[in-house]
Amino acid sequence: MKLVVVGSSGFVGKEVVRQALANPAVTSVVGLSRRRTPVPESLEGSSDADKLASVVADDFLNYSDTVKQHLVNADACIWLMAVTPNKSASMPWDQVRKVCLDYTIHGLEELSQAPRKDTSKPLTFVYVSGANAERDPAKKPWLLGEYSVMRGEVEARVLDFAKHSNNAIEACIAKPGFIRDAENGSFLLNALQNVLSGVIRVPVVYLHDVAATLLAQATEGVEKETLESADIARIGGSKKQSAER
Ligand SMILES: NC(=O)c1ccc[n+]([C@@H]2O[C@H](COP(=O)([O-])OP(=O)(O)OC[C@H]3O[C@@H](n4cnc5c(N)ncnc54)[C@H](OP(=O)(O)O)[C@@H]3O)[C@@H](O)[C@H]2O)c1
Repeated sequence: MKLVVVGSSGFVGKEVVRQALANPAVTSVVGLSRRRTPVPESLEGSSDADKLASVVADDFLNYSDTVKQHLVNADACIWLMAVTPNKSASMPWDQVRKVCLDYTIHGLEELSQAPRKDTSKPLTFVYVSGANAERDPAKKPWLLGEYSVMRGEVEARVLDFAKHSNNAIEACIAKPGFIRDAENGSFLLNALQNVLSGVIRVPVVYLHDVAATLLAQATEGVEKETLESADIARIGGSKKQSAER
C-alpha cells in the first residue's frame, strides 16, 4: 500500500516514516513537508529506505503538479502537519489557524480528488490532533482555550468531510497526550511533562506507540473513529508485543 505522511519532517513524522520503511504492508512512503524528509538514522533491519520519496512543497493551499502526482494511488495518509502549542505562541493567530485548519482541509480535498486505481476501499485519513482539542466551543478549556477549540474544529471538519465524501475518505482522529521519546527524552523534559500531565490531566504516551498506532490504522483499517491516549498505548503496546514474539 502507498502511504502519504504529511508533516514527515517533524518529531512524530520521522518516527512514522522510520516504522513505515520497516513495515512490509507499506510498499511506498511519500514524505510531504516544507523541507526534505531525511532517511531515518536508526532503521530496523528489515527496512527498505528506497520506499521513501521525499517531496518538498512551498504552498500547502495550492499544490504543484509534482505534489499532486505523488498523491496518485495513495491508500492512506497520516496527517501530522500543524503548529504545536509551544510554537503557536510566537506566531500570528491567523497563521496558526491557516496551517492547522486550512492546510488540512485543502490536503483532504486534494487527496479525495487524486486518481486511484483501486477505489473499492476509501482512502484512510489519519489526523493527529491532541488530547486537549475540544470539539465543543462551549467547553473551551482554561488552558490554551482558543488553540484547543480550533484543533477541535479541525477534528470535526475532518470527520464531516469524510462523512460527506461519498465513501472516498475514511477518517480517524488520534488524540495523544504528551508524546515522550523513550529513547531520547531529557530528564528535565520528562520531569516537566510529569508535572504538567498531573496538573492539567493530560496523559503521557510514547512516540513508538503513537507511530505504531497511526500505522496500524493506515495499514489494517480504522479501529475506531477517535483514538484517545489509552487506545494509543494499548494498540502501540500490542504491536510491540507481536514484534517481539
Ligand atoms: N509532540 C507532542 O508531544 C504532541 C502531543 C500531542 C499531539 N501532537 C500533535 O502531533 C502532530 C505532530 O506533532 P510534532 O510533535 O511532530 O510537531 P513538529 O515536530 O512541530 O512537526 C510538525 C510538522 O508540521 C510542519 N509545519 C509546522 N509549521 C508549518 C508551516 N507553517 N508550514 C508547513 N509545515 C509546517 C513541520 O515542519 P518543519 O519540520 O519544517 O517545522 C513538521 O513537519 C501535531 O498535530 C501535534 O499537535 C504532538
